[in-house]
Amino acid sequence: MTLAADTNIVTEQLADGLERVERAFEAQLSSTFPAVDTLCRHAERYRGKMLRPTLLLLSGMGTSTGVPAFTEKHVIAAATVEMIHMATLVHDDVLDEASMRRGGATVNFLRGNETAVILGDYLISNAFHLCSRVGDPALNLRLGEVTNALCEGELVQLSRRHDLALDRATYLEIVRRKTAVLVGACCEIGAKLSGASPSVTSACYSIGEKLGIAFQIQDDLLDLTGNEETVGKSIGRDLEKGKLTLPTILSLERESGAARVAVLRAIEARDGDSLKALLLSSGAVESARDFARDIVQKARLELTSLHQPQVRAIFDSLADQVVDRAR
Ligand code: FPP
Ligand code: MG
Repeated sequence: MTLAADTNIVTEQLADGLERVERAFEAQLSSTFPAVDTLCRHAERYRGKMLRPTLLLLSGMGTSTGVPAFTEKHVIAAATVEMIHMATLVHDDVLDEASMRRGGATVNFLRGNETAVILGDYLISNAFHLCSRVGDPALNLRLGEVTNALCEGELVQLSRRHDLALDRATYLEIVRRKTAVLVGACCEIGAKLSGASPSVTSACYSIGEKLGIAFQIQDDLLDLTGNEETVGKSIGRDLEKGKLTLPTILSLERESGAARVAVLRAIEARDGDSLKALLLSSGAVESARDFARDIVQKARLELTSLHQPQVRAIFDSLADQVVDRAR
């Protein structure tokens, strides 16, 4: 069979796996209380690209022995990571005072912060409850480390709000913890559940971590340069909340004199249009995008750890979409 035909088979397996993930997700979150059930159904709208479950299943298939395959454990773990992700989004929208996500109203906008905080707690609690069904304490332990890192990333970010001296290394460490550690763990867990060796498992983590960093840089670029209709969520929140992101940091590293003063003024005045214009014309936006593309390229070089060529081909095209996306 040709590589293209094999790739089609894996794509179909993946689609089937993602449907099973959705069913596991919905079964876990159903509640006999309509007040709870309605909120869960609303939060399920946040399930967009399913990037994390996709990476977990693909990583499992790419490292399995014999033909590419995943197990029920992969499906449960994939539903778990998506639920963790969803919990973080519900809480993140409270922190960012965001009103729109995936083209609809956020939970905090519709029902207020109190409900959104407890719904996020309910989702994280359910995620660990669901994960316990796999019966593998190492999986729970690993995901506990991941959620600890996520919260640390957010706490460091909060502690550096409105800090114009935030440097590139600290920004990247925040991004690594708040986003990339979970994405890396998805690839690692997929491989581990397929019985991959420690070296392959850690190579898979490394691929996912890199894709996660690039993904968040692009997310931050969309917050600065995108429009709400296309992106489908509230934008301009980073500037509003005093979060410096890569294009601004690169610009402040490079510029001096009047150009630097103009950037600082736009930040202090929360003037998103001026900041965007300054960072576009100085090339800082393009440099940040190039930085993200370089990271994706490094991840791509590590794809040899996935010994199934048809899965590698799908990973490869997914990698492109991490930076080249408008939403
Ligand atoms: C998105 O940032 C936010 C994250 C990737 C992490 C958020 C994590 C928390 C709020 C901690 C809560 C943790 C648990 C375990 C419940 P963003 O605002 O840049 O992305 P956005 O553009 O999608 O809003
Ligand atoms: Mg946000």
